[in-house]
Amino acid sequence: MSQVRDEDESHSVQRGIENVVADWTKVSFVDGEKGQLYYRGIDIAELAAHATFEECVGLLLCGNLPVASQLTALNWKLRQLSTPPDTVLRILKELPRKADPLAALQVALSTLACTDLGERLGQDESLFENALRIIAQAPVIVAAAHRHSRGLPILTPNPTLNHAENFLYMLNGQVPSRTTSRYLELAIILQMDHGFNPSTFTARAVASTLTNIYAASAAAVGSLSGPLHGGASVRAMNMINELRHSPNLSKAVCNLIDSGQRIMGMGHRLYHTKDPRALILEDLLKQQCSRKNVKKDYELLKHIEESAEQGLHSRGRNIYVNIDFWSGTFYRHLGLAETLYPAVFAVARVTGWCAHILELRQANRLYRPLSEYRGKTGLPYIPMNEREGAK
Ligand code: COA
Repeated sequence: MSQVRDEDESHSVQRGIENVVADWTKVSFVDGEKGQLYYRGIDIAELAAHATFEECVGLLLCGNLPVASQLTALNWKLRQLSTPPDTVLRILKELPRKADPLAALQVALSTLACTDLGERLGQDESLFENALRIIAQAPVIVAAAHRHSRGLPILTPNPTLNHAENFLYMLNGQVPSRTTSRYLELAIILQMDHGFNPSTFTARAVASTLTNIYAASAAAVGSLSGPLHGGASVRAMNMINELRHSPNLSKAVCNLIDSGQRIMGMGHRLYHTKDPRALILEDLLKQQCSRKNVKKDYELLKHIEESAEQGLHSRGRNIYVNIDFWSGTFYRHLGLAETLYPAVFAVARVTGWCAHILELRQANRLYRPLSEYRGKTGLPYIPMNEREGAK
């Protein structure tokens, strides 16, 4: 006899895996109550003030800030591994011009799994090198996809440049100023890791089957590509552009709230106060606008932020801006095309994914949660000619 479980019976389902501690990690810590983020114990504000991207790679992958000789070796290795195989570049050139650079990155990571030395692919001793290969090649691949989409020749990495400089050079064909490349480097540092966010959780879940690091990273890119994750910066910027011409900005923001719409770039599952990355990026945007003599751009966002926070708080919602509120406008001032915003996020987050995959491999446990079945059981197999609707 068939049985159906009563939907009201379920008290243990945590939809969205909300408030579930799925595993432990030492890579990063999001303190949502205090509004702090730590990479391997170091406050993100400290890292943004002093560290380079390459130092943060060493920190996240190995657990400690690298000493000088380790950093030199890491820099050398990242440069040595930064050129994608010809097969990857050929496949990127075959993609439609309109292909999203993030989708192109996913294709390229899957292709790397096919081009890496076959028998070493799944072996632990090559895991660290493969992690560095992914981190080094991600910006090269995104830049190649971007230039292909514009009908421009794909450039090869310049070994005299650091990671952020090279990324901008390969996108634009020009070596950027120190200031511009440092701004991009800081945006990348802020987004390298963030606890068990959806794409990192995806990377860990896939890696927990002991598959190769490319398969896990490609899956993570897929997770990042959704509008609730990597796509939020573009949506926030579109919203800001729509509000830009409102005669009464505060009223327009309140109307948005009252109509039940979400204010893009606001709210977070973990932060119950200001997102610490948002505070740093806001300050950087303020500096950027001041240097370029376009303070109004920053003032517009500040006005929207204040109106939205005030509007939400007065309606009993304790919601603040997150990093995506500022990042789209910040990237626009760096001269980046809108299609690149989610891909820049991925270029940053690959390091976090790789650090988590390395960590998990030290003490692997297959990720296999339970589900609550709400269908029927015990149904008979009905022959084709006896099924409902059969003539
Ligand atoms: N604007 C207006 N209201 C918001 C809001 C926002 N940005 N974010 C959350 N809320 C409201 C919801 O409408 C909901 O109200 P309700 O209880 O009356 O239905 C309540 O706050 C809780 O929302 P919920 O979606 O359950 O919270 P969450 O913690 O799961 O959501 C986000 C987190 C990020 C998905 C959500 O805040 C959001 O959609 N933000 C906009 C997109 C964004 O900026 N994403 C980038 C995240 S880094």
